[in-house]
Parts: sequence; C-alpha cells; structure tokens
Amino acid sequence: MRVLLDEDQLRVGVDQMANQILSRYGDQPLTIVAIMTGSLMLLADLSRRLTMPVRVSLIQASSYRGGTQSGDLWIRDDMMLDVSDRNVLVLDDIFDTGRTLQAVMRCVGQMRPRTLASAVLLHKQGRQVVSLQPDFVGFHIPDEFVVGYGLDYRDLYRNLPYLAILDPPEIEAL
Ligand code: IMP
Ligand code: MG
Repeated sequence: MRVLLDEDQLRVGVDQMANQILSRYGDQPLTIVAIMTGSLMLLADLSRRLTMPVRVSLIQASSYRGGTQSGDLWIRDDMMLDVSDRNVLVLDDIFDTGRTLQAVMRCVGQMRPRTLASAVLLHKQGRQVVSLQPDFVGFHIPDEFVVGYGLDYRDLYRNLPYLAILDPPEIEAL
C-alpha cells in the first residue's frame, strides 16, 4: 500500500472545503445528507468545522458489490430527515464514474429541497460518465483504487486515518 494523502494533508483539504461551504451558506441552516458508508469520516471531520446550524441525515447508496468494479446501483432513503424547503448538501467520499452521486442527487431533488449542492472528498481524474459536477471537491486524485479515511475494499480499511493506493496485486491477494 502506498500513502496518497496523509492525515495532515487530509485535514488541510477538509478545512478548505469547510471554508468554501461556510462562505457559500454563511449563517444559513444546512442539512447534510451523507452517503453511507464511505463518507463517514468526512462527515465527522467536515461537520465539526461548520458553524451554521447543521442537521445530519443519512442515505445509503452503493454501486460497488464488494470489489473494484461498478455494479448495479441501489439507494435506501428510509433514514432520511425531511429536507423539504431546506438547504441540502449531499456528501460522498469519492466521485468516480459519478453514477452514485447523480442518482442520489436525483432522489434527494425529488424531496423538494430549497437548494441542493454536493461535496466530495475525492474526484478521480478521467473516470466520469455523467455531466453532473460536484460543487465542492477536497482533492483531485489519479485513477487508482484508494482505501482509508472511510473508503473500503470489501468493507475493509475504512478505519485507516490516511488515504492509500491499493495496487492490483494486493487486491488480488485478498
Ligand atoms: P461512482 O458511482 O462510480 O462515482 O462510485 C462512487 C462510489 O464507488 C463511492 O461512493 C465509493 O463507495 C466507490 N468507489 C469508487 N472509487 C473507489 C475507490 O477508489 N476506492 C474505494 N471505493 C471507491
Ligand atoms: Mg461509497
């Protein structure tokens, strides 16, 4: 495993994203909709840097069936707060093909938020198949499979405090 972003670098990126979000919304209340489970660390760190009134709502979405290939997409929204007439910020760990974020944005968009925006910790270069672009991005990263800071490979490595590249031989060995 190779470290791509260490703890200090992650902290700086999350700080910058928090500042951009603060300058966009000011003191207005914000409802964060965090896509589980990958955005867990980002949710914890980012939300603690926000000073406006914040509500946290969870939504579950996945396009990955355990491995590194995109599979069918599913969404579970039974843990959602009522977001009608709220400023809503959808949070995800990584923008890869973009299908997950696009599907969640459509789903939440139907819940009649006042405003709807998106933030991702990572934006993977050259992988996108959708026209949607996230409004806030922590880091642009190369097209590598990464784990840690919430991101998993077969549900492992989410607890790493840094972001690491998992090389194909390591993936096959598991
Ligand atoms: P997308 O729908 O292709 O944009 O995929 C987004 C989802 O795929 C993310 O929420 C992640 O759960 C997962 N994913 C994409 N790339 C990676 C990666 O490099 N490491 C771990 N998970 C990833
Ligand atoms: Mg995920």
